[in-house]
Parts: sequence; C-alpha cells; structure tokens
Amino acid sequence: MDSILVTGGQPLIGSINIAGAKNACLALMPLTLLTEEKLILTNAPRLSDINTFKQLLTSLGSEVDLANNGQEIQLSSQKIQTVRADYDIVRKMRASNLVLGPLLAREGQAIVSLPGGCAIGARPMDIHIETLEMLGAKIILKDGYLHASAPKGLKGCKIKLRFASVGATENLIMAASLAKGTTIISNAACEPEVGDLIDCLVKMGANISGRTTSTIIIEGVDKLYGTTHPVISDRIELGTYMLAPVIAGGKLEISGGNIQLLSAFVEKLTQIGVSIKKSNDRIIVEGPQERVKAIDIKTGVFPGFPTDLQAQMMALLCTANGTSLLHETIFENRFMHAPELIRMGAQIEVSGGLAKVTGVSKLKAAPVMATDLRASISMILAALAAEGQTIVNRVYHLDRGYENVEEKLSNCGALIERISS
Ligand code: EPZ
Repeated sequence: MDSILVTGGQPLIGSINIAGAKNACLALMPLTLLTEEKLILTNAPRLSDINTFKQLLTSLGSEVDLANNGQEIQLSSQKIQTVRADYDIVRKMRASNLVLGPLLAREGQAIVSLPGGCAIGARPMDIHIETLEMLGAKIILKDGYLHASAPKGLKGCKIKLRFASVGATENLIMAASLAKGTTIISNAACEPEVGDLIDCLVKMGANISGRTTSTIIIEGVDKLYGTTHPVISDRIELGTYMLAPVIAGGKLEISGGNIQLLSAFVEKLTQIGVSIKKSNDRIIVEGPQERVKAIDIKTGVFPGFPTDLQAQMMALLCTANGTSLLHETIFENRFMHAPELIRMGAQIEVSGGLAKVTGVSKLKAAPVMATDLRASISMILAALAAEGQTIVNRVYHLDRGYENVEEKLSNCGALIERISS
C-alpha cells in the first residue's frame, strides 16, 4: 500500500487545474445502460473509481474505452449480457448501486449486491428500494443481493423522498426516464452532479424539467439516444485546493472550477478572513497573514455546506484562532479524521455528530492513516502546515477521488512525494 510523505512549512505559490467531477462522472457512466447507442463523456477525471465503474459495466456486457489520456470515456451497451452486479466489484465502490435503476428500466430486472457499509456510515439503500418499488419494481434481498424485477415495466407516479438522497434521486431519475407516464419526484437531491445527470439525459432525449430544484418532473419516453457530454468540474476538488494556500500559506490560481457551485463553503471562507478573487476563469485564493478566525460549520444537503468538504475544513480549523463547532448531519460516522489530526497535536472533542475544535498555533508532523477518501486529503492538507515530515498511510483512498495530488501540489512548491510499497 502506498504512502505519501509531506514536509510541512512550504507556502504554496502557483496554479492548479480542476478535473471533472468524480461524483458526476459516476452518475453519468450508468446512462450507457439506457441506450444502445454510443455515449461519450469528455472532461472525465482519471481516478481509480472510474476504472472500477468501467470494470462493473464491462462485467454487465457494456463496452467501455478510455481515450484522450483517460479524459474521454466511450461507452456502448448494445447488448446487456447479465443483470448481475457482483459483490467483489460493488463492495469497492458504493456508486456501483447506480446500475440498479438503469438495469430495471432497460431489462426489467437487476441483481445488485448491497454495497455494504464503509468507514463513514452504514449507508443503507432503503430509500432507493422504496422509491423504485413505487415505480412498480419488486425488490427482495437475498444472500446480500437486491433481486429487482419489473415484469409489467415501470410506471410513473408521484414520489416524495423522505430524505434528499443523492444516489436514490439519481437511480429514480434514470429509471423514470424510460417508465410509462409521468413521475414527479419531490424533495429530490439538487446537488450539481444530479443537475449534470439531468442535462445529459435531456441530450439523450429524456423529457425532464425542474433541474436544480427539489421537484423533478419526468415524462417517460420510449427510447433514449447516444450523445457526447462534458462532465462538470469537481466542486469538492475545487474546495479542497482552495483550502491548501489557507492552511499552508501562499497564493494559488485555480482554473477549471466553478465557484458558483460552492456558495455556502465560499461564504464561510470569506467570514474567516480568506481572500478569494476571480479573474477570467481563474479563482485566486490567498490565506490571511495571521491565523484564520474560528467558525461554526453545519453540513447539509445542497446548497448547504458540503459534507465532502467537512474533513478538509476541520484540518484548517485545527489551526484557527479560537474554538469551532463542526456539526456533521449527513453521515453518522464522518469524523474518522479527528483521531489522526489529534495525533498531529490538534485539540478536538467528538461527541456524536458534533466535533469541537480548539485551534492551536501549529500542528506537528506524525505518522497518520487515511481512513476514507476525504479524510485522506484532510491529512495531506494538515501535513502541509505541520512542522516536520508527515507520512500518510493507506493512500489508496486518495487515488479514488483526487487526480495526481502529489504532482499538482509539488508544482506549487509543496515538498510531497509518494512512497510505493
Ligand atoms: C453521494 O453519496 C456522494 N457519492 C457522496 O460523496 C456524498 O457524500 C453524498 O452523496 C452526500 O452528498 C457519489 O455521488 C458517488 P446519499 P450517496 O444517498 O448518494 C443516507 C465522496 O466522498 N441514506 O445522499 O451515497 C446515507 O446513509 C462521497 O465523494 C439512507 O439512509 O449519498 C447517508 O447518511 C462520500 N438510505 C445520507 O442518506 C438510502 O437509501 C446521504 O446519503 C440512501 C442514503
């Protein structure tokens, strides 16, 4: 398992380009199952999760080719060989469950392994199941697999999500696009990645309105067509690299990102004294000369503060001037990075979904362990500011969601290298 070595204390000066959004690309790839024609995704990120999804779709009978150095994904599913999504692939990546809706719509059946829990929570699929059943699917759990069938096809109806689950919204939209009649989804997730899925589906011939709102109206159509679609930029990668010069000092010019997708996050950064300027398509971020102010953060569904930036923000607030309270409302166990940051000298008290962070003037390097994707990058951010040499272990988590971290940061002056073992 690879590790990453970071020698802290180097201010970051330079520019970084933001890649396509992992969580948009993982929702777009299963669209190939809804058409026999070719789907081409451009601006795709080069990540291990994308390769895992390629492996899954190939196992179902799709053809998936990477072109343009992995930034273009060419998908075609003329014939589905099997409707069974195996545990050994699904357990590696929860987003594999996004083949459930499309397989039901295309083949009238699906056998999808439950993904199982992960470090940040149990991550059940009850909302996916109950809402697809409202469209007419019959879903039973057997030997760890969801056995879904829709012998009479899927029929549109009114559905209110009891929680604005991103994945359940995505599965529902994909299934309803080929259902008979009209589906009205209320309390739908309105994350930008859901909007990107809707944009691509409409280009494929779907009839969907209500994009970026929490009420989505879908008129089922008989057939969907191929298209070419650019993946939106990764707002979580953008937020992560915006924090880097604030934690380590310096000034970064960040291109390829869309700051409009991060308004709640940007508002908090501005409040704690971070200078954020826009010039053309670049975002220029400069940390304050003194320590940032402490601030309270509460994660929420879009457009609230993104849960996927909570770990990174905690790393910054560990060196803030004062005490901050972080309230994680989306996942039940998303503070796994706290004990690792404490090893670096942070003062954090966790109780349930609340973490109280009392800022210290300096973190100290220590060997730490990445426990999940966003925790791993929060360790890297903390290490950039820490005195001494930090070694972050189990960085396979990092490679799931961040393209070339060492390269992007070392090009801006960070002393960071990967140790393969
Ligand atoms: C997506 O996961 C993202 N992943 C996550 O990003 C992100 O943190 C999450 O949305 C919230 O924004 C992808 O898009 C691939 P949810 P998803 O369904 O769809 C509970 C990252 O770091 N829930 O909105 O799985 C669930 O347990 C990843 O890039 C149910 O109870 O998130 C969780 O507590 C991490 N029953 C909450 O809802 C269900 O049927 C949010 O889950 C479904 C979800």
